[in-house]
This record gives sequence, structure tokens and C-alpha cells, in this order.
Amino acid sequence: MATPASTTPPVTQNPDIRYLGRILGDVIRSYGGDRLYRQTEYIRSASVDRARGIHGADVVDTGLEALSLDDTLSFVRGFMLFSMLANLAEDRQGVAADPDADVESAIERLASHGIDRDAVLALLNNALIVPVLTAHPTEVRRKSMIDHKNRIADLMLLKDAGRSETDDGEDLDEAIARQIALLWQTRPLRRQKLFVQDEIDNVLTYFQDVFLPVLPALYARWERVLGVRPPSFLRVGNWIGGDRDGNPFVQAPQLRSALARGCEAAVGYYLDALHALGAELSLSTELAHVPDGVLALAEASGDTSPSRQDEPYRRAISGIYARLAATYRTMVGHEPPRPSRLKGEPYAQPGDLRRDLVTVAQGLAGEGDGALATGGALGRLIRAVETFGFHLATLDMRQNSDVHERVVTELLKVAGVQDDYAALDEYARIALLRRELASNRPLGTRFSEYSEETASELAIVQAAADAHRIYGPGCISHYIISKAESVSDLLEVNLLLKEAGLWRTGKGDAPAQAAIMAVPLFETIADLEAAPSIMAAYFGLPEIAGVVRERGHQEVMIGYSDSNKDGGYMTSTWSLYQASKALAPVFERAGTAMQLFHGRGGAVGRGGGSSFAAIQAQPKGTVQGRIRITEQGEVIAAKFGTRDVAMTNLEAMTSATLLASLEPQGISDRDAARFTAAMDELSKSAFSAYRDLVYGTEGFKEFFRQLTPIQEISGLKIGSRPASRTKSTRIEDLRAIPWVFSWSQARVMLPGWYGMGLAFEAFRDKALLADMAQCWSFLQSALANLEMVLAKSDLGIAAHYLPLVEDQAAGGAIFDRIRQGWELTHDGLLAATGQSRLLERNPKLDESIRLRLPYIEPLNLLQVELMKRHRGGEDDPRIKEGIELSINAIATALRNSG
Ligand code: PGA
Repeated sequence: MATPASTTPPVTQNPDIRYLGRILGDVIRSYGGDRLYRQTEYIRSASVDRARGIHGADVVDTGLEALSLDDTLSFVRGFMLFSMLANLAEDRQGVAADPDADVESAIERLASHGIDRDAVLALLNNALIVPVLTAHPTEVRRKSMIDHKNRIADLMLLKDAGRSETDDGEDLDEAIARQIALLWQTRPLRRQKLFVQDEIDNVLTYFQDVFLPVLPALYARWERVLGVRPPSFLRVGNWIGGDRDGNPFVQAPQLRSALARGCEAAVGYYLDALHALGAELSLSTELAHVPDGVLALAEASGDTSPSRQDEPYRRAISGIYARLAATYRTMVGHEPPRPSRLKGEPYAQPGDLRRDLVTVAQGLAGEGDGALATGGALGRLIRAVETFGFHLATLDMRQNSDVHERVVTELLKVAGVQDDYAALDEYARIALLRRELASNRPLGTRFSEYSEETASELAIVQAAADAHRIYGPGCISHYIISKAESVSDLLEVNLLLKEAGLWRTGKGDAPAQAAIMAVPLFETIADLEAAPSIMAAYFGLPEIAGVVRERGHQEVMIGYSDSNKDGGYMTSTWSLYQASKALAPVFERAGTAMQLFHGRGGAVGRGGGSSFAAIQAQPKGTVQGRIRITEQGEVIAAKFGTRDVAMTNLEAMTSATLLASLEPQGISDRDAARFTAAMDELSKSAFSAYRDLVYGTEGFKEFFRQLTPIQEISGLKIGSRPASRTKSTRIEDLRAIPWVFSWSQARVMLPGWYGMGLAFEAFRDKALLADMAQCWSFLQSALANLEMVLAKSDLGIAAHYLPLVEDQAAGGAIFDRIRQGWELTHDGLLAATGQSRLLERNPKLDESIRLRLPYIEPLNLLQVELMKRHRGGEDDPRIKEGIELSINAIATALRNSG
């Protein structure tokens, strides 16, 4: 275990933390009263002293015991706000940011390997980099809290600029104090359950406030760096309203609404930008040369206002505005907030709008040096139209393969084609599905009755087909199949798409057409191992080969969380790496580009950690400029909460993709072979240690359910979807998110490390291990995450949860195994990385974590007490509220908990 001296919390070097912490103290005193302030301060300093080894273990408990229930709630809120403000202060200092993670540095680094800008540009011409936002329920904070926090961040920027007043003349310190007072008085917990519509609204605010303005600004920056205008390869994707795996509340109406709202936001944004441009482009024919293209647009606009007769740019913009307003009306279903005075034909597709804007830009470029055209508001608008189209973000569909199987079974039965499809073996299924895909006749008819599930699935593919007609094919291009484990899982989806005309049978030499790509999500260790052979068999079907060749690429999604829950941290990480590597030649043989979609969350047990390092650690040849990655829950606010932070993170993702695609492999083939063999061995022993504990230990399920706040977490109102797919309490059936989340709360964080200790111990060649840890980016990244998790976990605190376990003897034995595993992992990690304590080489993160720990400990202790009372049958609603607040506060302090 780490020695007490090494965990001494530092006196923070971060002046913002001291500044904001002091204001928070004042706010607590003014609004919560002197007594609460003194109690909070007492517990805080006792906890800090305790962590420094100054007092005995009982001091913190004494302070906590003196708290009444009401005070407990206020106290937890105070600690939560402190953590929130500390996060803010750290984000400003770039504690979590990766150094040199910008495109310019990546290009320089590539140049040092002899890879020039042309190679970078060639890659970008076929690149696609997409963070995909999902509604995965791990964000515990309400949006109102996050908004207050962001306002404080904006005010702090004014402070940085040396200002003492806000733009409205308010004293800056007072304005900050006022925001913190608002935070203090804002209820942190949701009273109402979230609906899908809330999630749709929530994600839209990120598009409106951040992505719509930020992406064009980033492209403008990259254009300067590259010296030419790069294509629009960076997009933002969305799952909210399309991901119905285990969420019965996502149906056709939600899909339609998500797309309509997205269109409203995108086109509304362009209308505003055009309006502003109309005011700006006051060039007169008397003073400027105006080319024919612009004059033609002006003529066609129908703008006959006498005051604008010599202002063709303004007239052209009015005409474009009128057409775009008509587009808005047709697609969104009502007038835009600022309707056009003129009549115009709706644009059929974003490309047509772009063409008109480019005509205007070229007109301006003819004047002077062209700076007016590429930069400025018009340049940004053109970029936004290219990037966001009329649909804002590609919305993915997702459903579980079990559901597809049931629906296809019913469709085939009702149509009289096959009585029991589900009873067929894989060969027979494939043969039947291929026969059906070769025929244009749909299976479903309006005149048949279907189960609710089948009707709902048919309605959603129909909604997708309608959306393609309204917004264009870019609005939905992927259909993700959860728990994919066979070729028939993919074909079933193609068959369902065919029901709505989204799969068209080939004719003669013309291949079949799939307007939406069926994408398998491989998410258990066994499925990851089988992935290359499944894809090879899929590509081996002539109709699929035709579709894939025509499209030029195929996506495969790989799931970090479920593979982790299935096989433990190391084995999951290694299987993902191996699967990606083995898939690359399969794609090469099929003559199509591979696009991997990484399904990861914020916590290490779900693939979290630095994306910059993770992308670079991908096996060579598996990125090639194309990558999609899920971003969810608290990660969305952390990475994209403000424009500055979003720019930094999108830069990091892009530069990591460039490096992963183009930088030569850092290790020799010989080392690669040695390291692979070693990892196979490590992974094998980590796997059996993990499986043995989690799936092979009598009473483990009960231990987990009683030790951690899993039951309490399931009651949190943080997402629209249920915590489990089924009613079963088996660990296999529990969703990965609550699994990881509850282990974090109890500070065990088992999914982030368990299994590694025994693997380290069993691995004999320690010198080889040290060598690997030093020069192999895969292992560096995996160990860096492991290290962070170990630093945040604390089995001393976890032991306080042990009394919650009913069978003390069995529970104690399991806990001892976990504790030994932790120690072995800790020692093995230090030995492999040559450090004398955790995070020795990462002082920023070290300080950040050690500063938080004393704030988290009292929260854990309170959580245990409240859980005891709650489970003991006390029904005071403040107890449940206290537990939920503590979950909220611990998650905030740990940052990547879910
Ligand atoms: P899923 O996500 O359960 O929706 O597949 C898992 C995760 O993100 O952890």
C-alpha cells in the first residue's frame, strides 16, 4: 500500500482553487450560517490533517457524527461544490489536458520522421474523425449547475485579462461570488425522471453553444497551419434519439423529434449567420467590382428594395436567406423565428446552399487579396454548412441483436416464409436472409398484426427512411448492432432496413445499395476474438462485398465496457487491441477502408483516460484517418463544456489521429512479437484471476450488491434508460455503467485494475515487462490509466463499506482477496514503471488527486452511514436524498467515475 507520507495532500499551488474555495467558504457562512461553516471547516481540516498523518483515524468520524441530517445534506453540498470549483480551476490550468496535443505539433512531429504536409493532406482527404455524443447516464450534475460553473469560468477569463469589472460594469469578484451563491442555492438533484426529450434538448445546447461555432473556428486555424483549406473531416455525431438498446423510451417519435430539432438548430444557426452577413456585406456597385455570379444571385433574389439596388451582395444574401427560410419551413414544419420577406424555393440539399455561398465568397475573393472570402463570417458559414448540413449531426440507430432476431422471426412467420427462424442454425439463417435480401418484396404488410415490439421496430426504420427523404442521407448513416456475434446478426439488420426501402437489391451488374450501414458492435472477449472471422465471412458474401466496395469503407464498433465487465481491465484492453489488429488485413483483402468505432466511457473500466494517448496507442494500420469514439455523460461537459476546452479536446483528437495514422511504429517487429507474446501471457493470467473472482466466487454477486451503492445508483434520475436490460440480477445482465459506477463510489474501482496484480506476479521476466512499459505506447497508455485508478481507489475507505455486507465471513474473505489483488497490482505497477510511488512521474495529476482525497473521504463515510440507515428501513426522505447527494459529490470529485 502507498505509505502515508506519499499520500500527503499538498498545499495547493493552484491560486484559483484557493480563491474560489475562499469565496465558497464565505457563501456557506452567509447562506448556511456560521455553525455549518464551522462544522464544515472542522471536518475539512481534520480530514486534511488525517491525510497528512497528523491525527488519528477517528477525528473525521467525530466531526461527522455531530452533523444533523439537515446539516449532512448541506455539508455534502458544500464538499461537492468545492470539488466542482476545483475541477474548474484545474481545467483552466490544463491539468487534464495533454501537452503538445495540437495539430501543429503533430505535423512537426511527423515532419521529424520525414512525413510531409502532402502526406497529411492526402490522409485528410479520406479522413473522418467523429466524437459521437451519447445519452449514457453517468452525468450526475444538473445542466443548471454546469451552466453556473461555465459562467464562473467565463468570469475567470475576464480576471485573467486583468479586468476588474464585467462588461456590464459589475465588480468582477462580486459577480463571481454571486454565481457561487447561485450554485449554493441551486438544487443539485433532479426531482423528475429524465425523458428522452430532455436528453435531446440537453445535447442540442452543446451543438448550439459550442460545436456550431467551434468547428469552423478550428478549421480556420488548421487552414493557416496547413497552408491550404482542409476538407471537412471532423464532424460530431449523435446517438440521442436513435440509441434504443435497452431503452424502451426511444421509439420512432423520438427519432423524428431528434432530427427535427437538430435541423431546426443547424438551419436556424445559418439563418442568423446570414442575417448578420446581410448587414456586413454593404459593398456598392459604385465602389466595387461585382462578378456576374453574384449579380445573378442578386437578380434572382426578388429583392427589389430601392435602397439596395446598388448593393448586390446584400440582395444576394436576401435571396439565399429566403430560400433557406423556406427550407427551414419545409423541414422543421414552422416558420423560422425571423421569417423572410421574400419568397424562395427551398434548397434541396446543403450542397446547393453551399454553392450559392461559395459564389458570394468568390465574388468577394475577386476583390483585394481574397481574405474576405476564406476567413470571416462567410468562410465560417460555408464550413459550418459543409460540416453540419441540414441535419446538424449524423444520428446513429442502435438496437440489440436479440431484438432483431425476434422481429425477423415474427416477420418471416407472419409472411409465411419460415415458421421458426430463431430455431435455425447459423448456416440456414444466412441462406434464408440472403434469399430475402435478393428479393425486393418486403415481408411486412399493413394488413398484418404484429407484436408491439415488431411494430415499433418497423416504425423506427420507416422513420429513418422518411428522415433520409427530408434531410438527406447524411442524417442517419449507421445502424449499430449491440451484442453482435454472427453474420446473421448483420444480415438481419439489412433485412429490416429493406422493409423501409433503405436496402435495395442489386440488378444485373449493379450492386445492392444500403442507404444505412449495418455496424456490428463486438463487446465480449469471445466476440472480439471472433470479430475478424465474422467480418471475413460477411465480406465473403457477394452482395455485401458489392455494397462495401461501392461505399469504400465499413465500420466495426468495439465495446470497452462490456468486454471489461466480461474479462477484466487488461484482457479487455488487450482483446480490443488484438481484434483491431486482426481486423485490418480482413479489410485489406476486402478492398475497403476500415473504420473503427470505439465505444468507451469516462471511467477507466469503460475505456476512459486520455483519448490523446489512447488513439495513439492503437495498433499501426488500424486508424488510417478514420475513427469514431463515443463521448458520454460527464465527459461531454468536461471536454466540450466551453468553447476553449472543446477546441483543445477536438485538436487533441485530431492530432492523435494524424499521429496514429502516419507516425511509423515506435517498436521493431522483433519487439512487437516479443511484446505480443508477453501480453498474451499477462492477459491470460489477468483473465483467469478476474473471472475467478467475479464469476467463479460463491456469493460474489451478493457481495457486490451489498457493498456498493448499486441499488441506490439505480434510483438516481440521471438518464431516461433503465439500469438493467432485464429484471435479472446476474452480473452478466447488469449494464456496464452501473457496474463501474458503483465500484467507483465505494472506492474499490475494481473494473479498472483487478486481475493485473496476479498477472504481474505470475509473469517471470520482469526486465521484459519494464522494457515494454518503457517503450510500447500500448502498454504505456494502459498502465497510465491503471495508475490513475489505483491512485483514486482506497481500500482503507472501501473497508468502511464492508459492514453493509450481510454474510460477514464470506464478505470478509472476498474483500481480503480484493485487497491482496490491489497490493499486488500496486507493487507490480511500480516495479514495471520503475517508480517508488504512484504518479511519481505525473506531478500535476498527483497533486490534483491528492488534493481531492481528503474531501472525498468524509463523503464516503457519510455515504456508508446513510446507506446503513436506509437499508435498515429508516424512511426519512432526507436519508435517500443524502445518499444521492453523496453519490453526486463523490462522482464530481473523482471526475471520471461513471
Ligand atoms: P451500453 O454502454 O451499455 O449502452 O452498451 C456501455 C458503456 O458505455 O459503458
